[in-house]
Amino acid sequence: MCGIIGYVGSKNNTELGIRALKRLEYRGYDSAGMAIIEESGLESVKVSGKVDKLRDKLKETDFKGTPTLFHSRWSTHGGPTRENAHPQFDCKGEVAVVHNGIIENFTKIKERLIEEGHKFSSETDTEVIAHLIEKFYDGDLEEAVRKAINLLEGAYGLAVISTKEPDKIIAAKMSSPVVVSVNEAGGFVSSDPAAIVEHSKNMIFLEDEEIAIVTEDGFRIKDRDQNVLEKEEVEIDWDLKEAQKSGYDHFMMKEMMEQPKSIKDSIRGRITDDGDVKLGGLDEISHELESLEKLTILACGTSHFASMVGKYLIEEISGIPVEVGLASEFRYRKRPYDKKEGFLFVSQSGETADTLKALEEVKKRHALTLGIVNVVGSSIARKTDGGVYNHAGPEIGVASTKAFTSQLSILTLLAVYLGRQRDLSKPESAKILTELEQLPKKVESILENREEIKEKAERYKDYEHFLFMGRRYNYPTAMEGALKLKEISYIHAEGYSAAEMKHGPIALIDEDFPTFAVCLQSSVYGKMISNVEEIRARKGPMIVLATEGDEDIKNHSDDVIEIPQTMEVLSPVLAVVPFQLFAYYMAVLKGFDPDKPRNLSKVVTVE
Ligand code: AGP
Repeated sequence: MCGIIGYVGSKNNTELGIRALKRLEYRGYDSAGMAIIEESGLESVKVSGKVDKLRDKLKETDFKGTPTLFHSRWSTHGGPTRENAHPQFDCKGEVAVVHNGIIENFTKIKERLIEEGHKFSSETDTEVIAHLIEKFYDGDLEEAVRKAINLLEGAYGLAVISTKEPDKIIAAKMSSPVVVSVNEAGGFVSSDPAAIVEHSKNMIFLEDEEIAIVTEDGFRIKDRDQNVLEKEEVEIDWDLKEAQKSGYDHFMMKEMMEQPKSIKDSIRGRITDDGDVKLGGLDEISHELESLEKLTILACGTSHFASMVGKYLIEEISGIPVEVGLASEFRYRKRPYDKKEGFLFVSQSGETADTLKALEEVKKRHALTLGIVNVVGSSIARKTDGGVYNHAGPEIGVASTKAFTSQLSILTLLAVYLGRQRDLSKPESAKILTELEQLPKKVESILENREEIKEKAERYKDYEHFLFMGRRYNYPTAMEGALKLKEISYIHAEGYSAAEMKHGPIALIDEDFPTFAVCLQSSVYGKMISNVEEIRARKGPMIVLATEGDEDIKNHSDDVIEIPQTMEVLSPVLAVVPFQLFAYYMAVLKGFDPDKPRNLSKVVTVE
């Protein structure tokens, strides 16, 4: 959740560091800080608040030193105070540490260090790392860091500098991401490529238990046994412009508007002229996929709702039975593994702790693992046996939008890929793929009508509760619509299968409890009309998502939002867009920042 940056080089460090930090701010933002090694020793500035506050403070300084550390924090241990802001230091002020993750055994370590005479100044778990390095330092900073992290339990992505060896940064990784780059500007360490991509698109992603020693003109990476590793550089497939707002008020609006492009990019080069699917990231496991007899999809949040749509897609197009589960719950299950079972992990960030934990559980059972991940080089992408990158570009807004429609597009490709390995005929495959390729322009037409959705939001902005309901493929869409609204506008919203209304939720309905219903012309249209009438009979305000040209629906609803017709199984890609826009406008109307919703962070790297 936090953003970490280390820099060693001759550039103007504070401005370079602040610019980089601004690009990580979405990861966590309740306090920020920096440390720098000057001639006078280790200097630092920390603030409780956002990165701009740190930038203002730094204008009062004249730092010229190197190396530097920068950090933007999303609190896990200790409130968002200046003292708890990173970097954290040792007793003598010679070691500085920035950290992303959670040290689960820090209390025990802290007690022992206090007994040994160490003085602490914060409530954070991170501070114990600085004191451990101080304790173990005996002329070799790398060795002291290694001894310190060997005592840690939990997750860390960290960067360390010391006045004792001011020419280097030591970085270490366990469960939280760390990326390294040495380029013309100097040596960089970060938790996110976005902080470095301005200087270079080529980076190295550390694996768990690896340590990097980074200087201005080079780096070495070692494993836990101190073997020097030859690591392959990864080329980031997006540029900085894409990671910035490009004139929109919020990243979320930019990313919603990018969906025609991101869906195109997700399928680009993956559909062959003769109606087949090519997924290079699955080539090495295509043989195992041919004999797959069950697929279990594990994810969290929006990615879980995409997985629920994926279940329908893969079962109906490939014939493989699919189980979908919350990654966070899966780890507690004691369930038999089918021999021919594969596990698919869906994650925009590729760093979600719950999903990573589930992946580790599955890997212990040596089952086949694959991923659908957006962030290149992320942990889930590297730990699975094969996978498909979204190529949706960086998603900065905390509320996931383009990643969701990209995930659905790739799940469709995967369903066809698996289907073509089985009984799916070329004509059937071509029909699905041809319609999939039409979706970007259909999404575009919905986005062009966004003013209509803004008007709906204005009309409904004072309601305090919302129900979202849909059936079959759009039951997950209703769940996603409710999540979007609640997470950025803080309005209570429930997502439900419309079929479930009579089993309880309809008791909620009255004139103060509006419903958003997905009522497209489809196999469940008649049943949905009945649901709509049941709600109207109880005076529930009703907004209906309908298929363009459906005249009859106007007899059933006060408010109708029309979307283009498409294949029913692909309709969630279109149906979700009005829900995304509705949530966005509601949040903005209520004066909230949809990019930085309270209590949330873009990447949930804690369990
Ligand atoms: C969705 O809008 C939220 N930001 C959240 O539910 C998110 O989808 C979830 O944390 C999973 O993240 P991931 O896709 O990066 O694993």
